Amino acid sequence: MARATVISVVNHKGGCGKTTTVTNLGVSLSMGDGDRGIPPRRVLIVDLDPRGNVATTFGVEKNSLGQTMNSLFQKVIDGSKIDSSPFIISPDNLTLWMKRAWKKQNPTKSKGPPKHHKVDRLSLLPADLDLSGIEIELAMKIGREHRLKIALESAMDQFDLIIIDTPASLGLLTINALTAADWLLIPIQAEFYALESMGQLLDTLRRVQSAVNPSLRLLGIALTMVQSGSNLGREVADSAARHFGGRILRTAIPRSISVAEAPLYGAPVSLTQSAIKRHPGSLAYWDLAGDVNERLRMISGGHHG
Ligand SMILES: Nc1ncnc2c1ncn2[C@@H]1O[C@H](COP(=O)(O)OP(=O)(O)O)[C@@H](O)[C@H]1O
Ligand SMILES: [Mg+2]
Repeated sequence: MARATVISVVNHKGGCGKTTTVTNLGVSLSMGDGDRGIPPRRVLIVDLDPRGNVATTFGVEKNSLGQTMNSLFQKVIDGSKIDSSPFIISPDNLTLWMKRAWKKQNPTKSKGPPKHHKVDRLSLLPADLDLSGIEIELAMKIGREHRLKIALESAMDQFDLIIIDTPASLGLLTINALTAADWLLIPIQAEFYALESMGQLLDTLRRVQSAVNPSLRLLGIALTMVQSGSNLGREVADSAARHFGGRILRTAIPRSISVAEAPLYGAPVSLTQSAIKRHPGSLAYWDLAGDVNERLRMISGGHHG
C-alpha cells in the first residue's frame, strides 16, 4: 500500500503564518480541485505546537479533547505498541465541531452553516498545553529525534498526506517534525527581519539531513501576509527571490483580515470563502495548494534525488 507523504511546516519565527498555512493547505489538498489539477487526498494534520491553534481553527474546544499529542508521545517513550487512531479526530467529528463553531458565531441564523462547511477527508491529531513538558522529558532519551516518526507509523498507510504544524522554536518538537518528514515547507512573513532567521533554519535543515533524515528536502518557501502595494513586501519578495530563487513558491499570500477572521467561523478561509467566490485570501491559498501539489507530483513522477 502507498505510504503517506509527510510535509512539516516550520519557521521558528512566531506569527509568520505556519498554522494558517497548515490548516488552509489541509482543507484544499484534502478536497482537491479539478481546475487546478489537485486530486482529493486523505489528509491528516498533526499539531506539534502546545498552543494547539490547529484545533481552535476548526472550532474544536481543547478542554473537551480526550488524549492528545502528549499522551501519544508518552506511549512511544514507554515503548508500548502505538496505534495513533484513538488520538485522531475523524472528518465527521471535525465537521461537527466546525458546524458548532459556525452556529455559535451566527446565533440568529436558523438555516445553519452553508453546505460546503464540512470536510470529507481531513483528520486532525490535536495538541494542547500538556505537550509543553515533552521536550524536557525527551531530552534525556535515546533516539529522542525519532519519537514522532514512530508515533505516526500506523497512520502512514491510512493517509495520503500528513501535514505537521510546529511551534515557534527549533527545539526537540520541531526536530521530531523534521525527522518524520519527507518535505519541509517554510512560510515567511513579508517583513523586514524575515530573512534574518532563515540562515539558522536552513542550518537546522542541513544538520537534520546529515544526522537523522537524509531524505528530508525543501519543498518550498511560501511568502505570507504580503501587504499589497507596500514597498517592504516587494523588497522582501525580491530579496527572498535573490536568495532562494526557484524554491520560492509562485503564489504569495496577501494580508487580508478575512484570513485571520475565518477561524471564528470554525474553518480556515479556503473553506469559509470558497474559491468560487473569488475571495483574494481564499484564492491565494487555493493557488498555493496548486503549487504544492505540482511540486509533489513532479517528484513522485520519478524525479528522485
Ligand atoms: N494572510 C493573512 N492575512 C492576515 N492575517 C493573517 C494572515 N495569515 C495569518 N494571519 C494572522 O496572523 C497571526 C499569525 O498567524 P499564524 O498562522 O498563527 O502564525 P504561526 O503559526 O506561524 O504563529 C494569526 O492571528 C493569523 O490569523
Ligand atoms: Mg502556529
